Amino acid sequence: MCGIVGYVGGQSALDVVIAGLRRLEYRGYDSAGVAVLSDGSMAAAKKAGKLVNLEKELDGRPLPTGSAGIGHTRWATHGGPTDANAHPHLDNAGRVAVVHNGIIENFAPLRAELAERGHTLESETDTEVVSHLLAEEFSSCGDLAEAMRLVCRRLEGAFTLVAVHADQPDVVVGARRNSPLVVGVGEGEAFLASDVAAFIAHTRSAIELGQDQVVELRRDGVTVTDFDGAPADVRSYHVDWDASAAEKGGYDYFMLKEIAEQPKAVADTLLGRIDGGGSLRLDELRIPDAVLREAHKVVIVACGTAFHAGLIAKYAIEHWTRVPCEVELASEFRYRDPILDQRTLVIAISQSGETMDTLMALRHARAQGARVLAVCNTNGSTIPRESDGVLYTHAGPEVAVASTKAFLTQLVAVYLLALYLGQVRGTKWGDEIRSVVRDLARIADDVDRVLETMEPVRELARSLADKDTVLFLGRHVGYPVALEGALKLKELAYMHAEGFAAGELKHGPIALIEEDLPVVVVVPSPRGRSVLHDKIVSNIQEIRARGARTIVIAEEGDEAVTPYADHLIRIPATPVLLQPMVSTVPLQVFACELATARGNEVDQPRNLAKSVTVE
Ligand code: M6R
Repeated sequence: MCGIVGYVGGQSALDVVIAGLRRLEYRGYDSAGVAVLSDGSMAAAKKAGKLVNLEKELDGRPLPTGSAGIGHTRWATHGGPTDANAHPHLDNAGRVAVVHNGIIENFAPLRAELAERGHTLESETDTEVVSHLLAEEFSSCGDLAEAMRLVCRRLEGAFTLVAVHADQPDVVVGARRNSPLVVGVGEGEAFLASDVAAFIAHTRSAIELGQDQVVELRRDGVTVTDFDGAPADVRSYHVDWDASAAEKGGYDYFMLKEIAEQPKAVADTLLGRIDGGGSLRLDELRIPDAVLREAHKVVIVACGTAFHAGLIAKYAIEHWTRVPCEVELASEFRYRDPILDQRTLVIAISQSGETMDTLMALRHARAQGARVLAVCNTNGSTIPRESDGVLYTHAGPEVAVASTKAFLTQLVAVYLLALYLGQVRGTKWGDEIRSVVRDLARIADDVDRVLETMEPVRELARSLADKDTVLFLGRHVGYPVALEGALKLKELAYMHAEGFAAGELKHGPIALIEEDLPVVVVVPSPRGRSVLHDKIVSNIQEIRARGARTIVIAEEGDEAVTPYADHLIRIPATPVLLQPMVSTVPLQVFACELATARGNEVDQPRNLAKSVTVE
């Protein structure tokens, strides 16, 4: 978690850093802080709570604008969200300032060692040891980049560090192991940030930093080495979205904007996937067709909403390719000694490309010889970089902590992957593939139609604002949708919300049903596997007979559910496997509106951060 910004150049470093932090606040909002270098001296300010608290502090106690500076927005790990624990952390002489994302696992012995040498550490954080170690190394070598390399060699854990030293006023130094850090290269200026969003208003020219690399920023250039000082290979790229994509664009919340962007995100992710000969083409895949043909098992690893996309992928992959597919929470995967080999295809799904659990799962899989394919929304992030191949979603930047458009585009990507597997393995004919791709393309319009009919859903959500519990039921691909609906409600409305497979109801959960308990039921299409439809209609009757208030999401024209629905939410008819693309949307709107009605922060729910970069 945590957002980091660094800047050196001709603009006011303070202004650039604060504007960058504003864009990164989604990564953590427990505290914020800045340090700037001006006329050979260091000035810093930090404050617990959101960035606005720091801005108020700076209004009352302005800092010099400076030409180099760093900033941080924190999601607390070591030490509570206090002013003292906020970053940056300075050494005792106040000459070095450091910001950090990640966890330094060996901070305790380093701290004890520093105390023995007479250093006084003032916070409870793991980070503060770094500023003191850097000060010591700098006093011998006189160069911040070299001091950073020496210190990094002593650190264990995951870390992105960015530092400045008052004796090198035109230098900002960063280091990266596991946690994200991207370089922005401008005219006579350079940037460092956890996410390109922090500098996209200034430059779209970016450099991806690799594992265990140190970068030195100066106005006239950027130097990257490994931790031993050897020049490092880096990849430069052009960011293909602009600053407006990272703005709210007139919406009250990023989440509302991102929900509304879903039709475009779906269409963009589908763009250019069929070649002139009518075959599916996934250019970035990089894994040879022969390997995909040989795969005897697919294993999907992911967390949270991305995990729910994985659960839906399983239905499509197994149905279209007949290859067995397992789906596993990334945080559980590597600790249970999974059976993997060179013929296992592992798919790691991640919006951010930085989720530590997913990254560790993919490393484990590769170490066992499996091929790993990433489904990711963030160019230049760690997960695609460390995978054998990648399929990018084109959702654009997702800023709200609650994932919405990323989910829909992840579904598009996994459907495409499943079809591609079917194509290379010969389990799907070309015309069948083209027909599903056409259905997917039509769904962008269906999502639009769903969005136009959401006022009754918002009204219903407001009427439930004082409830404590909402349950969600689904069958087949509707089951992961129920899980996703419940996750959205938990994280945004802070309500007890649980998703169940409707078939499990009578094995326990039905005991929860009581008078007027809201239960959302995602009804499968009455066409296709109609037996599932009939069974869920019975489930609705069973819970209603026990007092539940039924909120039924069903296809247009499905009249069988009408008598049993206290509230009926209509969605367009789609092919059975694709229904989650439309049935998820009302649940996003429902959770967003309930959160608003309960007075919660929609974009920055309590205790959460957008990217979970620690295990
Ligand atoms: O960036 P990722 O897709 O790897 O993130 C995974 C989860 O942390 C994420 O989906 C999380 O569950 C969302 N906040 C849910 O809305």
